[in-house]
Amino acid sequence: MLKIVSGDITKISVDAIVNAANTSLLGGGGVDGAIHRAAGPELLAECRMLHGCKTGQAKITKGYRLPAKYVIHTPGPVWNGGSRGEEELLKSCYESCLKLAAERGCRTVAFPSISTGIYRFPLEKASAVAVRTILSFCQSHPEIEEVQMVCFDERTKGFYDSALQKENILHIEF
Ligand code: APR
Repeated sequence: MLKIVSGDITKISVDAIVNAANTSLLGGGGVDGAIHRAAGPELLAECRMLHGCKTGQAKITKGYRLPAKYVIHTPGPVWNGGSRGEEELLKSCYESCLKLAAERGCRTVAFPSISTGIYRFPLEKASAVAVRTILSFCQSHPEIEEVQMVCFDERTKGFYDSALQKENILHIEF
């Protein structure tokens, strides 16, 4: 089941939170910076041993001082106008994270809005990709009991709320 909530992902106590990282996995600004600050220095120490991560792929670490047990790091695509496979790469971020979460036995997962900050991915497209990908993955993986999309501001939440409403309407049996 997918819930759209407002809040700070570093405070959400779920099995795994997702980090909108960069390919170095060595921290950054935005949610990446917030997660590293809240998790403490051991997170960076573990990330150093992962030797980076390709855009659209995902790697998992412990959560350390975070309430979440794990952090799943995924570098989203930088928006370059939409003709460089950005939507496919964003879809792959959500799928890779959920696959890793299921493999690790996570029942609850929280995502930030990947790529819609510093990476400038338009919110309308990103929220549609995210909602569609999460819902279809969860349909075939009931072991993932709950996914939260944690929005840091009201504008972002508005896009995810309407993306979810559109998907739900599409799936109402007539
Ligand atoms: N909790 C939840 N969401 C947050 C938080 C937080 N504490 N802080 C920021 N966000 C939101 C932003 O408001 C935005 O909606 O996360 C979303 C993603 O924005 P960014 O963090 O800028 O991530 P992204 O656009 O994917 O850019 C990734 O930024 O921080 C660097 O190292 C990172 O180079 C990478 C790039």
